[in-house]
Amino acid sequence: MAIVTATACGKIILFGEHAVVYGRPAIAAPLTLLRAQAVVQASTVAGVCLLAPDLGVHTTLDAADADDPLAAVLRHFAQAAKLAQWPDLTVTVHSDIPVASGLGSGAAITTAMLRALAAYFALPHLANPPQLSALTYEVEKLYHGTPSGIDNTVIAYEQPVYFMRQQPQNQIEPFRPAVPIDLLVADTGIRSSTKVVVEDVRRRWQADPIRFEQIFTACGDIVAAARQAIEQGNLAELGQLMTYNHEWLQEMSVSGPELDVLVQAALEAGALGAKLSGAGRGGNMIALVTRETAVAVQMALQQAGAHRVLLTRIEP
Ligand code: MEV
Repeated sequence: MAIVTATACGKIILFGEHAVVYGRPAIAAPLTLLRAQAVVQASTVAGVCLLAPDLGVHTTLDAADADDPLAAVLRHFAQAAKLAQWPDLTVTVHSDIPVASGLGSGAAITTAMLRALAAYFALPHLANPPQLSALTYEVEKLYHGTPSGIDNTVIAYEQPVYFMRQQPQNQIEPFRPAVPIDLLVADTGIRSSTKVVVEDVRRRWQADPIRFEQIFTACGDIVAAARQAIEQGNLAELGQLMTYNHEWLQEMSVSGPELDVLVQAALEAGALGAKLSGAGRGGNMIALVTRETAVAVQMALQQAGAHRVLLTRIEP
């Protein structure tokens, strides 16, 4: 095949980030408005050329560092596809998803590349959600060190999911809420490395395991209650639980002044609840709104310094 294009969505964590790394449940949803795109095309130049103009990447598979995440996608794909030798190719990646902002940009780029490669080599079994998620997870380890697997799961399935990291297999339950869930996603504009924040939480957990286990368990209990609220369509309860979850994330030290200001602004403007989303210390926050409150909350977030505010809906 001469040219193939594929995309993958971003993601938001509704509940349970960080605690999910420690075996507690979490809830995530796709952010379909923002996407990564990969184009695979035959080339007349020898070798595999890797281009990511938004990231300033212009390299080849042979020249890329051993831990280069884009090259790692190709290497993992080659292994899974039992590809003895690469044909001459150009792989180009674009993404609307800001990097290091808690929206799953790394996992989305990997998933888009894997989808495009699977289509190019006519290997559809490598593009089914479980396989795609497993391959993306291997690359996520390079970005994140000890990822829970929730990002690759929600992006590969492109459905809202309840997720729990466990052996021998993660618990993955796609769901549809009883009523639409409207969320504003607001960017602090501050970039924050998930790997660094996850490592810092691990250090704090090692230093004070009893306290951190209590915090993680409290987050897990919130997720269980949120699951019920989602199934019952109880948005008031759901919002309250989001705000409680934010308070526990503050306790974990992963919030920050800019995130707290946006959460407060959203609540004062009538949001049913608000919290940071993703690794924290920057990146994005989410606010639960209704048709009646969406505009006022959006304006309040912009006035409070949000760099970009998106409205997304989880459909029943
Ligand atoms: C990142 O989207 C969510 C974290 O819980 C890390 C992970 O689950 O791998 C912070």
